[in-house]
Amino acid sequence: MSEIVKVEHLKKYFPVQKSFLEQLFARKMSYVKAVDDITFSVKRGEIFTLAGESGCGKTTTGRLIIRLLEPTVGEIYFNGADITKLKGEKLRLLRRKMQIIFQDPYASLNPRMKIVDAVGHPLEIHDLAKGKEKKEIVLEVLEKVGLTPPEQFTNLHPHQLSGGQRQRVALARSIIFNPEFIVADEPVSMIDVSLRTALIDLMLNLRKDLGLTYLFITHDLAVAKYISDRIAIMYLGKIVEMSNKESLFLNPMHPYTQALLSAIPIPNPERKRKRIELTGEVPSAINIPQGCRFHSRCPYKRDECSKKEPRITEVEKEHFVACHFIKS
Ligand SMILES: Nc1ncnc2c1ncn2[C@@H]1O[C@H](COP(=O)(O)OP(=O)(O)OP(=O)(O)O)[C@@H](O)[C@H]1O
Ligand code: SF4
Ligand SMILES: [Mg+2]
Repeated sequence: MSEIVKVEHLKKYFPVQKSFLEQLFARKMSYVKAVDDITFSVKRGEIFTLAGESGCGKTTTGRLIIRLLEPTVGEIYFNGADITKLKGEKLRLLRRKMQIIFQDPYASLNPRMKIVDAVGHPLEIHDLAKGKEKKEIVLEVLEKVGLTPPEQFTNLHPHQLSGGQRQRVALARSIIFNPEFIVADEPVSMIDVSLRTALIDLMLNLRKDLGLTYLFITHDLAVAKYISDRIAIMYLGKIVEMSNKESLFLNPMHPYTQALLSAIPIPNPERKRKRIELTGEVPSAINIPQGCRFHSRCPYKRDECSKKEPRITEVEKEHFVACHFIKS
């Protein structure tokens, strides 16, 4: 499988806003290290998931890749071309091939726009279709996302739809240009549990029918297990473990991954799994601990852990881990 997206040594540091007095006395700027040197690639046609607790840098990574944010350091490649510094018309054209769906469909849809306009608006912005032609295309994509008959939806406003229907509208808008790559940022986390599987299945079907590739973002490992081909676990801006789904769930190696997986309920009570409780707060992304950034919460930490940062290495075929004590 060829690579559609590749990121190398990607970093995003946000400067911390300080008051005038703080700025006067501070010796140097402080930064939120939201993404702190990550390298990975997404293969064409796969669902690659970024998972991890709140604030670990998942959304920032997704926004960097589709160039909604400028990286501090690092490179982003799309179909082999370096898109890190793309600007103007070339960036506008790239936007047709890379789309994003946000967690909250209500916030991402203009409440005053009818569905036909909300979904078809990108066609007008890109000067591709308007009027009757736009409506025809909108009807077609609404049908593809299961809003049928589509004519019943075009004149409604977002508040007249359920959460699941609104997320289908957001999905319809994201596929209107026939994109190749979609960042799906927690697309089901605000939807009623009973509707989640249907929406995920719809995304899986669209992948097959339209030849899509997804970067899927979730904090929910049960969802990750259902949908992903490969998974990267992030902690404080870094990838600590990355592999295909089977290997990650059968043989989680990083202590953080083990703790996250131990919290997923198992349907069969006979096969009880011991829950690994993580103690200690997640450190701030402004003051990342020295050494292994997980050491303040790691049940297996040793002296060395607070001194030296582990590098992510391939421990088994295509299974990467960042821990001093896990080696191939
Ligand atoms: N525009 C910004 N300015 C300053 N800090 C930011 C900005 N965006 C994100 N951050 C910080 O960067 C870190 C990573 O945030 P990000 O939103 O990428 O995390 P996340 O993994 O998506 O979390 P969640 O699961 O809560 O959505 C957090 O500490 C966050 O507060
Ligand atoms: S390097 Fe040390 S602190 Fe970090 S995960 Fe491994 S054992 Fe834990
Ligand atoms: Mg997020």
